[in-house]
Amino acid sequence: MIGIDIKRAATLLREGQVVAIPTETVYGLAGNALSENAVATIFAVKNRPYFDPLIIHTNDFQRVGEWVENIPDQARYLAEALLPGPLTFLLPKKPIIPDLVTAGSSLVAIRIPQHPFSQALLAQLDFPLAAPSANPFGYISPTNAQHVEQQLGDQIPYILDGGPCQVGVESTIIGFPDGRPVVYRKGGIAIETIEQLIGPLEVKEHSASNPQAPGMLKSHYAPRVPLILGEIEQMLPLHQAKRLGILSFQKRFPNIPSAQQIILSPSGDFREAAQHLFSGLRHLDNLDLDIILAELLPEKDLGRAINDRLRRAAQR
Ligand code: TXA
Ligand code: MG
Repeated sequence: MIGIDIKRAATLLREGQVVAIPTETVYGLAGNALSENAVATIFAVKNRPYFDPLIIHTNDFQRVGEWVENIPDQARYLAEALLPGPLTFLLPKKPIIPDLVTAGSSLVAIRIPQHPFSQALLAQLDFPLAAPSANPFGYISPTNAQHVEQQLGDQIPYILDGGPCQVGVESTIIGFPDGRPVVYRKGGIAIETIEQLIGPLEVKEHSASNPQAPGMLKSHYAPRVPLILGEIEQMLPLHQAKRLGILSFQKRFPNIPSAQQIILSPSGDFREAAQHLFSGLRHLDNLDLDIILAELLPEKDLGRAINDRLRRAAQR
């Protein structure tokens, strides 16, 4: 059931049930992070392998001392400047966090979402919420309540509807191995924004097999319809006989029906493009197309996170 009753969501979560919640990035499938049962339910509903750990969410960075051992100065500084918001920290966990949440890692991922509903909900709870994106494992992340309903609606008691997500791509994940900052997932806070605050960063590229960073699995965000990346103009003549979908940054293509085209941002705005990315991919994926032709954005600002998702969507 979809609704806007934050109290009801809190009650279900206190009972150990899982609830879909809005955040500014994507919708999350939330459960009590301190309850192994609730966490196991999250993995089961998503059909997610246990080796892929979960992010825990709370409303205020001041609270994270309850769950992590120590917080590097750079993390504190970034938290002060950028949280609440789409930035997740990998920090050494306290034993109170179940190993199931972190897939056995000594680090736990912590995020303070800024969506007013998730803020209000988390403020009512005396435990943090483990919440992966509320999609079946490997599929496109949901950016509105209907997306969640269509895929997980019959498996969960409640979907808290906070409207369409304003950021539209998942949080940026940063850790501090050996005390130096490393970005493990490009996301809703641009690398440039973090570098302005703390200087140059190492950015890990995703790979097909990187056991240290299970979050970096290459095939992810994948539509069912094959997606090909390249120059759309040049690819078009090669796919004449097919039912085509187009995912472009700014440009419309006159010979393709407009329902089969997603233009992420006609004015070339990265923020708007990120907002529309996942809903656009879902729209095209539901049209019974043979193929989706997509192009990369300029490799800067949120374009880097968008391109990361597009490359993974193209991976089969
Ligand atoms: O914006 C977001 O971060 C959204 C919303 C719901 O908060 N959440 C999200 O969760 O994207 P999920 O589970 O779809 O992606 C989290 C990523 C995973 O790829 C996971 O492997 C990585 O974070 N991760 C979580 N805990 C980790 C840990 N302890 N060590 C390494 N990677 C971790
Ligand atoms: Mg996900």
